[in-house]
Amino acid sequence: MAVEIDIFTLFPDWFEWLAEQRHVRNALAAGTRIECVNFREHTPLGAGQVDDTPFGGGAGMVLRVDVLDSALRAHYGVDPVQLRSERRVIALAPGGRLLDDPLVDELAGEPALTLLCGRYEGFDERILQHLSSDVVSIGRYVLSGGELAAMVLCDAVLRKLPGALGHERSAAEESFSAALEGNPEYPHYTRPAEYRGWRVPDVLLSGHHEQIERWRRERSRERGAPAPGRDGG
Ligand code: ADE
Repeated sequence: MAVEIDIFTLFPDWFEWLAEQRHVRNALAAGTRIECVNFREHTPLGAGQVDDTPFGGGAGMVLRVDVLDSALRAHYGVDPVQLRSERRVIALAPGGRLLDDPLVDELAGEPALTLLCGRYEGFDERILQHLSSDVVSIGRYVLSGGELAAMVLCDAVLRKLPGALGHERSAAEESFSAALEGNPEYPHYTRPAEYRGWRVPDVLLSGHHEQIERWRRERSRERGAPAPGRDGG
């Protein structure tokens, strides 16, 4: 399974770092493709303009719908309104659908993704309504642009692809997976078995695989229903 990802951004250089990371390199070697499109290069406006002041007044600049329309049309050679019914065209914005494990699974099953990275105050609403199929947020806070959110999405999707991690069990049994009934992962320990008096739970040193499995499921379930104020795993 491989996925083709096109990223529309004003900062394509940012993604060079992502492409150098090991699991991303593995995915690329297995046929995944990541391409960045600098939509400033496709603007129909003069002087590389991509944004404008908001109607109704207010601070900041807004990405123009005609600019994204031109860039998508130039890259794919079809009307972007039609494109969004053929592939997932995902605008990254703080108010979108929250990225969680089920959504990552869904996206990892797609053959092709297009990611639109906003800047400034965000997208003209018509980009979200007419040119994209999804609006996705990585959390209820505002980043200075969609690039970091796109990288988070790529990272989470690519590590789901077979072979990306180099060891298949990890992705199947990690936090929020079906194998763990959607719960966070159980605690992990490694050597030394005792450090400053902090001992690894005896069951993990026992060699009883069934007991270990049971212990892990129980801890995972506990973390799925955390006490107030406690972090998940
Ligand atoms: N762009 C700016 N903030 C964002 C967020 N939290 N998630 C996705 N895209 C964004």
